[in-house]
Amino acid sequence: MFVFKTQRELKAYLSGKECVGFVPTMGALHEGHIALINASKSQNSYTGCSIFVNPTQFNNQNDFNKYPITIANDILLLMEANCDFLFLPSVLEMYPEGIIKNKKYDLGYLDTVLEGAHRPGHFNGVCIIVHKLLEAVQPDTLYLGEKDYQQCMVVKHLIETIGMAINLVICPTLRDVDGLAKSSRNMRLTAEAREHATTIYQCLVYIKKNRENHSFQKLQTECLTKLREAGFEPEYITLAKASNLQLLTEFDMESEMVVLIAATIDHVRLIDNMRL
Ligand code: PAJ
Repeated sequence: MFVFKTQRELKAYLSGKECVGFVPTMGALHEGHIALINASKSQNSYTGCSIFVNPTQFNNQNDFNKYPITIANDILLLMEANCDFLFLPSVLEMYPEGIIKNKKYDLGYLDTVLEGAHRPGHFNGVCIIVHKLLEAVQPDTLYLGEKDYQQCMVVKHLIETIGMAINLVICPTLRDVDGLAKSSRNMRLTAEAREHATTIYQCLVYIKKNRENHSFQKLQTECLTKLREAGFEPEYITLAKASNLQLLTEFDMESEMVVLIAATIDHVRLIDNMRL
């Protein structure tokens, strides 16, 4: 696997290469990330990954400072997966102008709900870095995980706005055996919190199972209680249209729906979602 720390070296390597798949990450890699690499490997001639903990997308300095960094292990996992190249830039390489967040992307409605509402500036930071990474790699296909449902929609919107010809492939959420969505942040959970963390998944399944016989309001209230009993501080349990994240107060069996949850346990904020 080739490792590049500068855009100049990366561009020289990629020059003339066709059918490139790209998986942007913030590292602390797990099987969820590797599933994206495998998806890209099966559909492209070259597969690349980037690891960059992007300072502009953290609205909480503590979350940024505590973001897990396991670079040696990440490189081993990527080599095992036969990833062709890794882009591993420094902050200075990606932000030579300094970490200024003044570039504004108009995300409209998408930035006003759920993660957009709860993490002000987060998606703007995601757009800043994904735009820079796409310019650097110029992939044919970009691979994202459905675990970050709203991020997929934001990046789809970004690709349309900047007018780059990039296919977007969204891969299903990979879970631990008890259902907890794999996440780099899970590493920060104490053993006890980890045991209870599966409650998020259990709530999603519970809502999905009972959607035909109960109101969303009732299931939402029950699940808020379940989460609190498990030691979570829930931020939202929200029902929305899967196609555009328009919020729904009740099940609408005519539409494809998604339930999204954000909750904090032991100072670790976790998100997950399930289509109904
Ligand atoms: P990160 O959280 O490292 O995630 C990188 C990619 O892996 C994202 O597309 C995410 O949705 C996907 N992913 C994470 N956990 C997954 C799981 N359990 N199953 C399937 N896919 C999973 O998301 C980011 O980084 C950043 O915001 C980034 C897009 C790299 C911009 O900085």
